Amino acid sequence: MGGSILVTGGCGFIGSNFVQQLLARQPACRVVNLDALTYAGNPNNLAALEGDPRYRFVHGDICDGEGVGRLFGEESIHAVVHFAAESHVDRSIAGPAEFVRTNVSGTFALLEAARRAWAGSGQGRFLHVSTDEVYGSLGETGYFTEKTPYDPRSPYSASKAASDHLARAYHHTYGLPVLVTNCSNNYGPYQFPEKLIPLIFNNALHGRDLPVYGDGKNVRDWLYVEDHCDALLTVLERGVVGETYNIGGNNEKPNIEIVETICGLLDRLAPPLATGAARRSLIRFVKDRPGHDRRYAIDAGKIRDRLAWAPAVTFEEGIEKAVRWYLDHPEWLVGVLDGSYRTYYEAMYGDR
Ligand code: NAD
Ligand code: TYD
Repeated sequence: MGGSILVTGGCGFIGSNFVQQLLARQPACRVVNLDALTYAGNPNNLAALEGDPRYRFVHGDICDGEGVGRLFGEESIHAVVHFAAESHVDRSIAGPAEFVRTNVSGTFALLEAARRAWAGSGQGRFLHVSTDEVYGSLGETGYFTEKTPYDPRSPYSASKAASDHLARAYHHTYGLPVLVTNCSNNYGPYQFPEKLIPLIFNNALHGRDLPVYGDGKNVRDWLYVEDHCDALLTVLERGVVGETYNIGGNNEKPNIEIVETICGLLDRLAPPLATGAARRSLIRFVKDRPGHDRRYAIDAGKIRDRLAWAPAVTFEEGIEKAVRWYLDHPEWLVGVLDGSYRTYYEAMYGDR
C-alpha cells in the first residue's frame, strides 16, 4: 500500500504500536500522525522514527475541523486509521465532558474532513477503531457479535458508541468508505499506567497496594496489542467497506487472576520486596467502580472466517512479554508518570 495514511492518536498506546508495525510491514508507506499530546500521548514512543522521511508528526487536535481539513489538503491521504480518543473509563466517570468533545465531536470533525477531501473521487478508506464496551455487559455466558445491540453503560463507552454510529451513518448517507472495528481489552508495551495491567505492574514492582475493584471477578477478554494491530492492518487491507469486525483474543480472565499472574511474574523476574513478602499480599479489594460492567467476551468468528485473522500470542506469552517490556523500560514509566497523572490518581483513589 503506497501513499500517506493519516493515523490519529499515534502517540498513544495502540496507535504507537500500530505505526511501528505498519512501517515495518509496509516499508513503502508514509504515515502522518495527528496527535494532541494529552496526558496519554507520548511522542517518545515513536522517537526511533524521527528524521525518517516516511513519518510526519503533526501536533494538533482532531476537533479542529479547519486544521484537519488543511492536513487533508497538504497531504495526499488515501486512508485514515482513527485511534485518537479519551480512553479510560474511570476518567470518564470523573469528567465526561472531554470524552464527548474528543470522541464524539472529534470523530465528527474527522469524518467531515474525509468526506470533503474524498468527495466524488471513489478514493479513501476510513478505519474507525472502537471498543467492545459499546455492547454493554454480559452475564455468565454468551459473546458479543457484530449483531449485538449497542448498550453502552459508561460515559466512555457511550461516547465511543456515538462515534461508531456517526462513522456508520457517514457510510450509509454519504458513501464514505468506512470500516469499523470493535476490540476487547488490549495490553502490552506503551500502555499508560492507569489501566489495570500496567497499574498493577507498577504498584507491585514498588511494593504498593494493588487496588482490585469490587470482588475481583469482573471478566475481560485480553488481547496482546500487536495482535490487535495485525487485525487492524488486515481490516485496512482486506475488509469490506461498510462492514464491522469484532476483534478479540478468546482470553477471558477475571481481574483477580490477572493481578495474581502479574504478582507471580514479578516475584520470579524482579528483585524481591524489601519485606520479603510475596507480592500477592499487596492485593486490596476496594470500593467498586460505579456501573462496573461485569463481563466482556468477543466472538471473533467473522474476522477469522472472512479475513483469515487469528491472534498469534497466547495470554501466557503476552503477559510475560509485557511484564518483561515494562521491567526493561523503567524510564518509560517514570517519564509518563508526571504531575498531572499523580494528581488525578490521588483524587480518584486517595481515599481507598
Ligand atoms: P490512549 O489513551 O493510550 O491514547 C489516545 C491517544 O489519542 C493519545 O496519544 C492522545 O494524545 C490522543 N488524543 C486524545 N485526544 C485527542 C484529540 N482531541 N486530538 C488528537 N489526539 C488526541 O488510547 P489507546 O488505549 O491507545 O486506545 C486507542 C483507541 O483504541 C481508542 O479509540 C480506544 O477507544 C480504542 N480501543 C482501546 C482499547 C484498549 O484496551 N486500550 C480496546 C479497544 C479499543
Ligand atoms: P481497565 O484497564 O480500566 O479497562 P476497562 O475498564 O476499559 O475494561 O480495567 C480493566 C478491569 O480491571 C475492569 O474490570 C476494572 C478493573 N480494575 C481494577 O480492579 N483495579 C484498577 O486499579 C483498575 C484500573 C481496573
